[in-house]
Order: sequence, then C-alpha cells, then structure tokens
Amino acid sequence: MPFDPTLLAQARHVVVFTGAGVSAESGIATFRDKLTGLWEHFDPAQLASAEGFRADPPLVWGWYQMRRAGIAQATPNPAHLAIAALTARVPKLTLVTQNVDDLHERAGSPDVLHLHGRLDAFRCLDCARPADGPVALPEDALQGRRIEPPRCTRCAGPLRPGVVWFGEMLPEQTLERAFDAAQQCDVLLSVGTSGVVQPAASIPRLALAAGATVVHVNPQPASEGHAREFALAGKAGEVLPQLMRQAFT
Ligand code: APR
Repeated sequence: MPFDPTLLAQARHVVVFTGAGVSAESGIATFRDKLTGLWEHFDPAQLASAEGFRADPPLVWGWYQMRRAGIAQATPNPAHLAIAALTARVPKLTLVTQNVDDLHERAGSPDVLHLHGRLDAFRCLDCARPADGPVALPEDALQGRRIEPPRCTRCAGPLRPGVVWFGEMLPEQTLERAFDAAQQCDVLLSVGTSGVVQPAASIPRLALAAGATVVHVNPQPASEGHAREFALAGKAGEVLPQLMRQAFT
C-alpha cells in the first residue's frame, strides 16, 4: 500500500530528519564525493578530526573555508522550501538535520536542530570560546588553498569550525530534543540520508518503534520493512513539493 498523504495533513507533530541528500540539488558536495585538489590524497575522516586539524591547521582550515564558500554560493532548493512551507501547515514540526550548512535556515525554517553542528559556528580549538565576530571568508577560498586559521582573541589558539568531528560527541541537548521529538511525532519524513552514521541514524527507528509513520525520501531504495514505513523514490526537490501538493490541495 502506498503512503497516504492525508496522514501528513492530519499529523499533529511532524519530524523532518534530513541528511546530505537534501542539499544535493543545491550543489553541496557530500563526504562520499571524492576529494579533489590539495585534498585528493586525504580521507575526509583524517581532515575532519581534532588530530587532523592539529597536524596541519592551514590544510584543514582551507578545506573548510572552501566548503563554506560553496555553501555561501548555494541557494536553498525546492526540498528546503517545501520543508519550510510544511512548518506553516502542521501544528508542530521539528526539523532535525545532519547537515552543517545553513540552507534550511535560509529557506525559512526556524529552530533547526543541527546534530552535527554548523560549519560557520567558529570557536577556539583550545579554550572553546566562540569567535568574537564575523570570520572573514577569503575571496579565493572556493579555489581551494591552504589558509592559516584566525586566532582566538583570549588564548591565541586556532579557530575551528563548529562541526562535530570524528571521535567527538554530538551536542547532548540537541540529540535529546531530536530523540524526544522522534518518540512523540505522528509522522517522520527521513529525507536524503543514507542512515548509516550513528547515533543520528537511529532516529527513524525510534519514531517507528514509538508508533509513528516513517517516510523515506531518497532516489536509492530505502527500507519498507514495517507496515508503517514507506519509501518515496526520487529526488527530494521533486518528491517533497509533490507530497505537499497531494497533502494540502
Ligand atoms: N534527494 C534525496 N536524497 C538524495 C539526493 C536527492 N536529490 N541525492 C542523494 N540522495 C541520498 C543518497 O542516496 C544517500 O542515501 O542522500 C543520501 C546521502 O547520504 P550520505 O552522503 O551518507 O549523507 P548523510 O546520511 O547525511 O550522512 C550522515 O555522515 O558524512 C557524515 O557527518 C557527515 O552528516 C554526515 C553524516
């Protein structure tokens, strides 16, 4: 039986859980894309770690500034916009993302739970103090080069991006709010995530176990192992606007 869109229209609490796939149509590269240029011989796990950063700060800072420049240049796509529109149509919506970009915010979604942090929430590697003001983005950062990280104004440690690196804990309160929402919602839309990186990946299963209907939006085949679990195959930027039309017109 296919997913009945009226379930979405009647839901009191919807959780939207997103991954890299929701930003794919905005042109944001994912971790699974092969690294190029200066970084082509590196594994993302090497660069995205405190050890990697300490080993070569300009190499890692330059990589994040290139990604930051790519995000700045990108715009929200119809999937981000459909999710923001859904917020206005249901009594309660909790948006949980694994993405470190700000495309959900720029599409108009308030209160985004960033499980893996935000690239532009810069803080000191040594004393954790947030950056004092805006951190300049070099004009040529998109071309990809080594860039010396700015220094903390208190302890002179290097600034780091506000993402959760390999080997680090997810922000506790954010994770707790996401788990709570998953256990209280009626419908959970899981959009553009491979569902392999824990603990985030357990969120759809938590919702299912608590009685919610779970809908996976992904061009790749997704699990439909439970009677309340559905897969809508396709690109998020096409499937979500269509789902909105079916549910609300
Ligand atoms: N629409 C919907 N889904 C898409 C689209 C699209 N246009 N394009 C790709 N996808 C799907 C892919 O099929 C894949 O299942 O998006 C998923 C992306 O998977 P990952 O790259 O593994 O991203 P994600 O699930 O967010 O990864 C989780 O792992 O790389 C680390 O910390 C990083 O937050 C990230 C985490």
